[in-house]
Amino acid sequence: MRPKRFDPGRVGHHTGAVTTISSPTNAAQSLLLHSPDGPDAAWWRHAVIYQVYPRSWADGNGDGIGDLPGVTARLPYLRDLGVDALWLSPFYTSPQADAGYDVADYRDIDPVFGTLRDADAMLARAKELGLRVIVDLVPNHTSDEHEWFQAALAAGPGSPERDRYIFRKGSGQDGNEPPNNWKSVFRGPAWTQVEVGETDDQDAATKLGQWYLNLFDSKQPDLNWENPEVRAEFESILRFWLERGVDGARVDVAHGLVKRKGLPAWDEDNVMIDDHDGEGETKASLPTNAAPMWDQDGVHEIYRAWRRVLEEANPTGDPAQDKILCAEAWVEPIERLVDYTRPDEMHQAFNFAFLTSPWTATDLRDVIGESLLENDRVGAPTTWVMSNHDVIRHASRLGLPVGSHRPNGLGPDGPQPDLEVGLRRARAATTLMLGLPGSAYLYQGEELGLPESAEVPDDMRQDPVWFRSNHTERGRDGCRIPMAWEADAPALGFNTTGEAWLPQPAPYRELAVDQQVGVEGSTLELYRTLLASRREHDLGTGGLSALEGFDDDVVAFVNEAHDGARVALVLNLGAEPVALPDGELVVASGDLVAGALPCDTAAWVLLP
Ligand code: GLC
Ligand code: CA
Repeated sequence: MRPKRFDPGRVGHHTGAVTTISSPTNAAQSLLLHSPDGPDAAWWRHAVIYQVYPRSWADGNGDGIGDLPGVTARLPYLRDLGVDALWLSPFYTSPQADAGYDVADYRDIDPVFGTLRDADAMLARAKELGLRVIVDLVPNHTSDEHEWFQAALAAGPGSPERDRYIFRKGSGQDGNEPPNNWKSVFRGPAWTQVEVGETDDQDAATKLGQWYLNLFDSKQPDLNWENPEVRAEFESILRFWLERGVDGARVDVAHGLVKRKGLPAWDEDNVMIDDHDGEGETKASLPTNAAPMWDQDGVHEIYRAWRRVLEEANPTGDPAQDKILCAEAWVEPIERLVDYTRPDEMHQAFNFAFLTSPWTATDLRDVIGESLLENDRVGAPTTWVMSNHDVIRHASRLGLPVGSHRPNGLGPDGPQPDLEVGLRRARAATTLMLGLPGSAYLYQGEELGLPESAEVPDDMRQDPVWFRSNHTERGRDGCRIPMAWEADAPALGFNTTGEAWLPQPAPYRELAVDQQVGVEGSTLELYRTLLASRREHDLGTGGLSALEGFDDDVVAFVNEAHDGARVALVLNLGAEPVALPDGELVVASGDLVAGALPCDTAAWVLLP
């Protein structure tokens, strides 16, 4: 049964009775911030891509961990939601020291997730349903259980096997100190010393084991991208997955592969995500590439080579067959981020500046304008994203005080978000986001308004940062909770046995899919309406201009399709309700008040 459409009539049409702004109905559209794409723009310039976190989406065999047969069975849900593609976090062979971002075999599936046949079945089913599939490529590091790393340990210092990784002599008198002062993103030093074995595993000078670089966990040794064998191997891995029929890859830690020559000292804490939401602070932060391990110019050559591999996979050059790369690159400023999406490099890069924007109209306006401007400069589509498997879910994050320190995960003792405010803002943020031109990423469960779980028992936590920070940072498990499908089924329909690798917190029950489908005003129906209307009005390929005439605390744009249809996007962050421009209300993230848009609410209006 198809659910009822969310009825915009319920929130009422603009009555014009509100006085907070001077003359919204005369609101003028100003200069174009971004010109529209043509009607035949390639799919990835406007696609909405849904991130599946395989451990937690659907569990086919009931062992408590999601898997590929589970994904395949639930794919029709994504078709009905109205997204264009899915991106899956890693499902490759892995000891799961970092939930699969520690890959031991890039060409096989971890038994926890299934088999290569299951992957093929998933790809075939997605194709049948008209969904494209993007996989996750993890090139910065392998697992320490990868055969290359095992060979490196066995072969000893100075060997070609060790040269695929970054092994160095220790510092200090007897070589017992790390080679430099770099810190791991997961806390602690970025170096691990190998045990001195009985074999020749000894450094000639020091007689002590060498150290290897691990920017993440010690079970994730960094590869040496100066080594041509490493380069060839990843091109081959890319071909392997393209031949199996994937439509592209999301590239993990894309800004980390090349390190500055000589590995110069760097004392700063390494964080992927700047943990301040920055309001009121003057952002004096250094550009990312000041750090010798991030955003070094040499990475671009690697992506140019990959682009060629992708183009070989689409020999006719039919845009419908384009295969894409999306960079996970925590790079500032945006001017440097867009270098990753120059015409001969990747197609997209995640827009983390948008994700981390403070919840103020000025910040949102600025980041949207700047993102479009900079991406247009290189001819790339801008992406938009609010949540993923590494950050506090936006339904909770936006409920933390604006301008506060942004914690890495939530626990019982830290700051607690206001969940009502958080959900209201999350719905408004997504309403704005899905009205913007470009490509948008959704993270599983955000369409249900799922909050972060602050209730993961500490003894069940798995994020390596929890251990490496000596239990001071809870980390990311709380955004990785198994999905809520059916309120009254075992494990909320995640499987049929009731097992779940992390417990689902109480609020997930009433947010389950079956509690929201067809329910007017539910978050799920809001997402469906947004996705359907975005498609109907070609917003993904539209042009964008500012809509003038509103107070400063209102974010207002007009998205103009190539056929001239215009949709106003209005988000009110001010305390007073504002009148909407005249036109047909397409969708609103919350109820209007006497026809006006209240605080923390967004709406789309089809202009006459
Ligand atoms: C990326 C992933 C994250 C992982 C890290 C190391 O940031 O998104 O989950 O822990 O890379 O691979
Ligand atoms: Ca399973």
